[in-house]
Amino acid sequence: MSMIDDDNVSNTSGNEHFQNIVHARLSRRSFLAGGFAAAAAASLGGVETLLRAVPAAAQETEEAEDTETKSGGRNGRRPVLGFDSVSVSSADDVVVPKGYTAEVLIAWGDPISNGPIFKQDASNTADEQARQWGMHNDGLVYFPIIGSQRGLIVQNNEYTDDGLLFPDGVNNWSAEKTRKSLNAHGVSIIEITKRTGFPWDWRRRHGKWDVVRPSPFARRITGMTPIEIGGPAAGDARLITSEDPTGRRVLGTLNNCAMGFTPWGTYLACEENFNGYFRKNGAQTNLEKRYGITPAGFGYLWHTTDKRFRVDEEPNELNRFGWVVEIDPFRPHSTPVKRTALGRLKHEGAWVQEARNGKIVVYMGDDERNEYIYRYVSNLPWKQARAQGINPLDDGILYVAKFHAEGAGEWLPLTPDNPRLAGWSLNDILINTRGAADAAGATMMDRPEWIDTFPNDLTAIATLTNNSRRGTTPPSVNSPDGSTSAGSARPPVDASNPRTANNYGHIIRWYYRQDWTEPTFGWDIFALGGDPANPAHGSTIFGDKYGSPDGIYVDRSGLIWIQTDVSTSTINAGAYAGFGNNQMLAAHPETRETRRFLVGPKQCEITGVFMTPDRRTMFVGIQHPGERPDDQPGDPLNPKQFSSWPDGPDGGRPRSALIVVTKDDGGRIGS
Ligand code: FEO
Ligand code: CA
Ligand code: CA
Repeated sequence: MSMIDDDNVSNTSGNEHFQNIVHARLSRRSFLAGGFAAAAAASLGGVETLLRAVPAAAQETEEAEDTETKSGGRNGRRPVLGFDSVSVSSADDVVVPKGYTAEVLIAWGDPISNGPIFKQDASNTADEQARQWGMHNDGLVYFPIIGSQRGLIVQNNEYTDDGLLFPDGVNNWSAEKTRKSLNAHGVSIIEITKRTGFPWDWRRRHGKWDVVRPSPFARRITGMTPIEIGGPAAGDARLITSEDPTGRRVLGTLNNCAMGFTPWGTYLACEENFNGYFRKNGAQTNLEKRYGITPAGFGYLWHTTDKRFRVDEEPNELNRFGWVVEIDPFRPHSTPVKRTALGRLKHEGAWVQEARNGKIVVYMGDDERNEYIYRYVSNLPWKQARAQGINPLDDGILYVAKFHAEGAGEWLPLTPDNPRLAGWSLNDILINTRGAADAAGATMMDRPEWIDTFPNDLTAIATLTNNSRRGTTPPSVNSPDGSTSAGSARPPVDASNPRTANNYGHIIRWYYRQDWTEPTFGWDIFALGGDPANPAHGSTIFGDKYGSPDGIYVDRSGLIWIQTDVSTSTINAGAYAGFGNNQMLAAHPETRETRRFLVGPKQCEITGVFMTPDRRTMFVGIQHPGERPDDQPGDPLNPKQFSSWPDGPDGGRPRSALIVVTKDDGGRIGS
């Protein structure tokens, strides 16, 4: 089944013009960076913020480790590219640099606690799946319990391949099959610990990781879990269904792609391509067109047994998806909450940065061709809000980005007092955020994916994965009346999206002068994807080639980790011939030198990355190994046609999995 509209169309147009633009941007960036550095003071965000949220004992552990590292002659807080690049690979295995080891920690179907074991013929029941790791894992966060020794992993399970989820695939579809597929979606939470020794034992620090079974924290949140709808849109008439007259309680979260976490210690799961589960045969409303509701959906069969997914009968259920969901992983019985103030879109992720004034800023991409980049700013400093009993994610202002030429940009407020949104209520804006952004005049981007921040530099960085329609003919744009079908426009090139039929994607940065809440910003392009050795690609990568950047993660030293999502139909073929399997690279933020660090097994996507605070363990998500290149459900008669990772000859089918990467000498990852 077609899951995600990656749509890599072969085109290798090059254009000298891009190089000029990029060089101008980079020079400007270098010039501005000095000024910002002078103004910079310690600013919290990203992992730094999380560390402030964890118990003091855990922080002390990390400080001790930092001191130890410095006494060993290495500055642990400077970005270092110390490993040897790995080559492109099309092997059915995970490849990491010499001196590193990658091991599977947990895979689809493994028990999250003392639950049922995975059956290699996929015959586990729906109820068993609800106690097992979900399918097709994506964004993840490590929450420390004891520093870098013990903690929780929270990881999204974005979607399912229903051809591989059952012994007979999508044949003989039933209500039980719908329930199992729903239960393989959502979020998985496990407790993990180092295997051996005591806290003062160096072997423990360098040891392997195990899942703690049983654990009181282990939890599955699925497509069936009761979830509260919070924030301004809760109870709106458009969120009321036949099963929920309150408009405040929904079953489940779906298509959780990337993620975020808050300084108060919660996890944010983000609903991306929710539209694909729904089907509508009648005429589409403009709202439905704008979010891509169609008669065929992505091919899921849930609608045949569950009327929630039949839009003709239950027209508002789909309005209850497309949100950011807040989960408290340390309170396993707590009810997750959809935070409607963050808007409704195909949320890639929600990356939280604490501003110097104590407010929180949340960056969010809407991953579809010609969609937008959003920023949310809380109205109050987050600590003050929480002291007043206000969730900082419920009370704030949503903005959308306008990238002007010449490296300047502004955040357009999506509020009823914006003159371009005259007649829109706040809930109109929050439920139809795409339409509001169309009306506000936002810049159409080349599929915004992950975003992260450099806390000390007031700089954010985002991936734009590709856009087959950019600069193609006949030109068209997202209409300001919000009537455009999702992904259908053909916008002309612009300064921030400078390539026609952008096959390889790019990475963009923006930055502020004094604080993260400023209404304007400067921006530049960090890299244009492609093969820098092939002039026709117009790539500005300095180092190893890549395309379709998706995951991006700035570690505590400032090193940038880039993960690719070349669609399965295009892996190592067409415009991507010679690029091998999907991969992860590390890039130096100043020199921009880029080295390939990891290559995944056949037909997988690399998505999800997080490090322990000491940076000696890296967690990486391997998603959909062995997915069919024709976007059809996997063949249950030949499930290992394209991959048998990770179980090899003994396994029954390929499985998405979370892997752990460590350095054999116990050193920091990347050093
Ligand atoms: Fe789920 Fe935009 O990747
Ligand atoms: Ca993604
Ligand atoms: Ca993706």
